[in-house]
Amino acid sequence: MSVIDEIRDRIDIVEIVSETVKLRKSGKNYTGFCPFHPNTRTPAFVVFPETGTWRCFGACNEGGDVFGFLMKKEGWDFPETLRYLAQRAGIQLQERTPIEEEREEAHQKLRELLEAASVFYRHQLLQSEEGASVLEYLHGRAFTHETLEVFEIGYSPKSWDATRTHLMGKGYSDKDLLDAGMVSERETGGTYDRFRHRIMIPIRDARGRLAGFGARAIDPEDQPKFLNSPQTDLFDKGGLLYGLDKARKAIRSSDQVVIVEGYMDVMALHQAGFENAVSPMGTALSEGQLRLLKRFTRNVVLALDPDAAGSKATLRGLDVARETFDRDVDPVFDARGLLRHEKRLDAELRVITLPQGKDPDEVVAEDPSAWSTLIKSARPIVDYVIDVLSEDQNLDDAKTKAEIARQVLPLIEDIADSVEREAYRQHLARKLRVDERALLSSRSSKSSRGASPTMSTSKMGEEVQSRGKDIPHERFCLGLLLQNPELLYRINRQFQALQLDRLTHADFSGTAHKVIFQAIDKALNQDEEEPINYWRSVLDESLIEVADSILMDLEHLARFAGLDLERQKVADEVSARFMQLRKQNLESELNRLQFLLRTAIEMDVSEADIEINIGNYKREVQLHAIQKAKLEQALAKRQGSLLTAT
Ligand code: UTP
Ligand code: MN
Repeated sequence: MSVIDEIRDRIDIVEIVSETVKLRKSGKNYTGFCPFHPNTRTPAFVVFPETGTWRCFGACNEGGDVFGFLMKKEGWDFPETLRYLAQRAGIQLQERTPIEEEREEAHQKLRELLEAASVFYRHQLLQSEEGASVLEYLHGRAFTHETLEVFEIGYSPKSWDATRTHLMGKGYSDKDLLDAGMVSERETGGTYDRFRHRIMIPIRDARGRLAGFGARAIDPEDQPKFLNSPQTDLFDKGGLLYGLDKARKAIRSSDQVVIVEGYMDVMALHQAGFENAVSPMGTALSEGQLRLLKRFTRNVVLALDPDAAGSKATLRGLDVARETFDRDVDPVFDARGLLRHEKRLDAELRVITLPQGKDPDEVVAEDPSAWSTLIKSARPIVDYVIDVLSEDQNLDDAKTKAEIARQVLPLIEDIADSVEREAYRQHLARKLRVDERALLSSRSSKSSRGASPTMSTSKMGEEVQSRGKDIPHERFCLGLLLQNPELLYRINRQFQALQLDRLTHADFSGTAHKVIFQAIDKALNQDEEEPINYWRSVLDESLIEVADSILMDLEHLARFAGLDLERQKVADEVSARFMQLRKQNLESELNRLQFLLRTAIEMDVSEADIEINIGNYKREVQLHAIQKAKLEQALAKRQGSLLTAT
């Protein structure tokens, strides 16, 4: 759940609105005088607590959620509103205090320093005499010039102070160099270059900002083989994944990430066209790294070295992975027919083991198709763990059996598909030669750590219902625009041709969606930046998170709807989807209006304001019905033209 959803869940819109508008209960809803236009006669302003929204049926004819209400009332922008509401809801935001502002500025300076170092190293690789033989080595490993460019590979000269001198010449101090991890301190005072005579591999964060370097020794005598930047404010090994800045697009479009061990493997895979690979930096996969990936895909393939494969560390890594991913709520019926909710892992973890003695870069160098085959053969971790744990074990020993069951059962409980889950349970029972029922009974007591049905279950049921009813369609439409902002031109042209109003933020329901739409709209009205980069650069972090999750779902939904997003023909289809979106919104508005109308009629009609309101509602119902008819006509016409075209 995003922070925005969480806030919307926790904040009572009636309470917020009541602070400026005197509300009175009317059926399930509340009515009052709209604070946005001068008016003392008709209480045309309605708050709907169920959906957390408000609407003015009078002169301003606007509506929205609690964010939109405050933005309009206070004149705040979205981030300001978010900060205010988060505070009221008691939710901690990553806020920027003046101290943090200062820190951010310092970070910016360090990043610039690292960029300067990177340029220097590249220059050394491409222009210096020493660099020439390193370049030869890299070409010898089949890295193309283009790959070296893409990954900005460089060379640090064999010198104690060449880098230091160069950077000081650019105005950086010893302290800056230390803070950026570019130099080490001498015991006798003074500093010297940390990286000497090494292949320099810049490491960027997911957003492409330089964080540090990995540096591979050229001389086999030099230890360690890989020297990374030290832990600095920018370089946090556990929170970075090598190559993610270049892989994120492919991870999203293939809906899969492959985690390999080495930098060189990431580069080689990328060069061979497998751009969804990333690697940690010589450490086991951390929770922070998995959190990062979660924004792009839920399908994780771990490429394991066969030696490391059986190790405890690897299994622990898998545990971390299971615990990091969110769990979906899965309603199940128990034996007495009662509904319960269990949480299943909302991710698919698979494992491939590499051919003995080979790194991924060697596998692809020999035959790129071998890599695809390996990936296709990736096994669910349950399979894998069962095998690893039972290898060389005496499966007649009851203790061993119990231990294996203890480790494997939580993994089985995580499987979202019930048929598959059952199949694995049977498989494990056969493997351990125990009765399957024995596994079932040990499950409830032992596996609760992993697959706990937490939270109040009734609350969860509501959440499942209230969410994701017609929102998926809206998310889908918005996702299409996020992915390809220019589509908006075409949709609006088609809308115009059909005499429909242009798309506006009013076509979207929540303020988050509205603000994102506005950023897309603005992106098309500027020419400084590519529209697709523009919205990312102007949106607040919390909204980027929302946008990213929409984009992630888009791939799934497109596949589900049988849409090929790359195809040109889709544009037509897309307009129809936006028409449907508008129609859907009109329909739910109509429903609401009719409900309001009924409630108003049932109330004491002697009061003048209610009569006026009834008039208002009736007029609105009519307007909505006309709009809806127009859309239906347009949709039907389109259907007709499609039919005659084929
Ligand atoms: P490898 O030794 O397998 O190196 O270490 P590699 O990436 O395959 O490189 P080549 O092919 O020999 O040139 C795998 C990863 O482990 C980390 C690095 O991240 C490396 O990419 N590592 C290895 C270290 O951090 N320190 C070391 O001393 C060795
Ligand atoms: Mn290697």
